[in-house]
Amino acid sequence: MCVVVDKISDLKTMLQGFRSEGKSIGFVPTMGALHKGHVSLVERSVAENDITVVSIFVNPTQFNDKNDLKNYPRMPEKDIAMLEAAGVNVVFMPTESEIYPEPDTRVFDFGMLDKVMEGKFRPGHFNGVAQVVSKLFDIVEPHRAYFGQKDYQQLAIIRAMVRMLGYRIEIVGCPIVREPDGLAMSSRNLLLTPEHRKSAPLIYQTLAEARNKTNELSVKEMIDWVVNRINSDPNLKVEYFELADADSLLPVQGWDHPNGIVGCIAVWAGNIRLIDNMMFK
Ligand code: PAJ
Repeated sequence: MCVVVDKISDLKTMLQGFRSEGKSIGFVPTMGALHKGHVSLVERSVAENDITVVSIFVNPTQFNDKNDLKNYPRMPEKDIAMLEAAGVNVVFMPTESEIYPEPDTRVFDFGMLDKVMEGKFRPGHFNGVAQVVSKLFDIVEPHRAYFGQKDYQQLAIIRAMVRMLGYRIEIVGCPIVREPDGLAMSSRNLLLTPEHRKSAPLIYQTLAEARNKTNELSVKEMIDWVVNRINSDPNLKVEYFELADADSLLPVQGWDHPNGIVGCIAVWAGNIRLIDNMMFK
């Protein structure tokens, strides 16, 4: 049975009970408008833990764009039905004042990790993510927490935060789930016009083709090739494409790089911003 809770104190009492029975707790934080990408995280948690908790909270502090926050899709009833079907035990759906009874003024220092890519184009975004995820971790105190590689930089930030704050939580990164045409699943896909939705798979198709060209093109040529190919579709406009060290997320100079290389991209499809990534090495 799936229980929906909106108060921190009720959730804590319930989870304390499970913990005292020696049950392991898996946690999947989300902002709702759930799709198969979210469900893949949930299923992994259900398989690996006695109890799975999912939070649904559209966190205002991580939105640098007021319209994006206003337009973010919300469909709680449908979400709860999906989570119940996936075997979730507890859904935590707090109000804004429950999470932020007073403004959260904490500032996290992630060094360069939140200065590049998403951090550069969405100032304050990762500080807001760290604020809400640290609060949720303090409330849920899970044994394991599940995050998608779709938000590659977010996963790196969460791992850094866990190290910085000394949480004893295992962070589990889960693979990107895609639509049949390759588009990475995202709650924001619902907001695409039919025309932009048709163009959007070019992002994945270009990345998939590009990673087979590392023998032909230099890093710099590859960046130009990817950007030009996607921008050749008038419905799409690349905000950035970076080839970065898989851990530090700093740009790489060449393919002969000791660490893994990840290609991260943000693209505007009309007024909807889509992100994706792929390992290149
Ligand atoms: P949200 O965008 O709802 O995503 C919740 C989790 O689902 C994240 O870990 C995200 O990486 C993962 N996810 C989304 N699309 C996916 C896909 N196509 N394949 C695999 N995983 C996918 O990310 C957030 O919410 C928020 O920033 C949050 C962590 C909840 C903090 O507010």
